[in-house]
Formats: sequence, C-alpha cells, structure tokens
Amino acid sequence: MEIRLAKTAGFCFGVKRAVEKVYEQIEKGKKIYTFGPIIHNEAVVADLEKKGVEVIEDVESLRKIKEGSVVIRSHGVSREIYDILTKQELECIDATCPFVKKIHRIVEKESGEGKQIIIIGNDSHPEVEGIKGWCQNAAIVIESASQAQNLKLPENQKVCTVSQTTFNYNKFQELVEIISKKGYDINVVNTICNATEERQTEAAAIAEEVDAMIVIGGTHSSNTRKLFEICKEKCENTFYIQTLDDLYGKLPGGIGSVGITAGASTPNNIIEEVQNYVRINF
Ligand code: F3S
Repeated sequence: MEIRLAKTAGFCFGVKRAVEKVYEQIEKGKKIYTFGPIIHNEAVVADLEKKGVEVIEDVESLRKIKEGSVVIRSHGVSREIYDILTKQELECIDATCPFVKKIHRIVEKESGEGKQIIIIGNDSHPEVEGIKGWCQNAAIVIESASQAQNLKLPENQKVCTVSQTTFNYNKFQELVEIISKKGYDINVVNTICNATEERQTEAAAIAEEVDAMIVIGGTHSSNTRKLFEICKEKCENTFYIQTLDDLYGKLPGGIGSVGITAGASTPNNIIEEVQNYVRINF
C-alpha cells in the first residue's frame, strides 16, 4: 500500500501560533479565556478546557467577564471586541493571524476612503465577521456566482474586493471576473492565504493519483470542507473524517494507494494516528 501524506497537511502558521500562545499563557498560571474555540478541533479544545481555559461564545458573555486574559484566535475579531476588552481592562492576547490582520488594515483604509468593500467569503464565518467589523461602512459579502451576478451598485462606485483567507482560489477568480465585468472602478486584493492555496493544490494533485483520499479535520472547519470538495472532485473515494474513529470500516479493500491531507486545525498526532492505522491495516 502506498501512502501519500501531504506536506501541507495540518496546522498552518497562524493556527500553530495561536495554539502555542494559549499554552504559553497556561504556563503563567493566569485565568485564560479564548474568544470562540481557539481552533476548529474538539480534541484540542477539550484538552485546553481540562487545563482551565474557558471559551467565551459571544459578546454578551464577554461583557460579563471582570478579570483575566482573553486570547483572540487566528480568525481575528472586529474592532468592537478590542474596545470591550480595553473598557473592561482585560488583558488581550492577540493571536490574530498576521494575514488576517492585513485584511483588517486594508478594509479599514479603503472603506475610510469611501470605497464599497466586497468580501468574497462565507458571511457567517467568524473571520468574515471580524473583517466586516473593521469596515467603516457596511460591507457586502459574496460567496456564489449568483450573488455576484445580482450585485448592483451605484454607477462610478469605487469598490475594493478582498477575500476570506481560506476561500477557494478558483472560485475567487470566477467571482472577481463576474464583478469586474460590471464596470465598477474596482481594486481587487487577493487576500487568500498561501497556506490554503498550497494545501488545496497539493491535495488536488495527490487526490488525482490515488485510489482513496482521506481528509482530516473538524466538521465545522470551512477550510477542511473545501479540501474535501476539491479532493472529491478528483477522487470518488474521498473520506472526510474528524478522528481515526470515523475511518473504521470505510476504506474499501483492494486499493493500492491512499492519500492523506488535513485542514489547518488538525493536530499532528491525529494525522500520524491515521497514517499509522492505514499503514498497519492495509
Ligand atoms: Fe493565517 Fe493562513 Fe492560517 S491566514 S491562520 S496562516 S490559513
């Protein structure tokens, strides 16, 4: 059995940095909160909870906290959250990925100059919510071709388009093309993170050549879901699993090669477990 493990599988730079920051804070013995789960991985979040880290789910709960440190995860947050932390004199451990921070700076500046911000991404994703919260006017969020086609803005409107960091590159290009044809004065900034692009390209290349493909990641992880879609297109036998348990009994017999990739929030130990299981059992 040939196993092809993607080099880009697992934690990206931003997620690794955020998780490390939480563990560093634990060492200091302070009361720690994370604003939302630090990553889309239940095993990691459960381990942190055991170590006393509490997840704050929403702004209302944040407003009730009187002391401690709050870690902002790699997705980033709106400006409003920073204001609340300052007002409540809570220590802010900012683990916003620098690539996301860059988008905040872009939309803040461009919207300040009167441009309409279009975010290509998933409207309910926390990263997009954070980005919206740095726009100085209401941003438009688009994720499908029909939404792009239906876009209607005043003539001569200046537009700045950015993307959620984990958005699919080809789809981004398709949507930008539709919007560009409408004749607005448009500034497109491709803010898709290279980590995502590289992971997607490598996954597609592997999926094309193997008999079965395993994609590991949390069920709520949008970048893992996209990886799955990309792989499924190239390889019918593609399996989306969260942990090794989900794989039992699924891999068909008589296959000669298996590819493995994992989303940005998948810890190394889970990837290794899956790899070892396939190596031993097939
Ligand atoms: Fe940052 Fe890219 Fe990861 S934006 S959080 S390094 S996917």
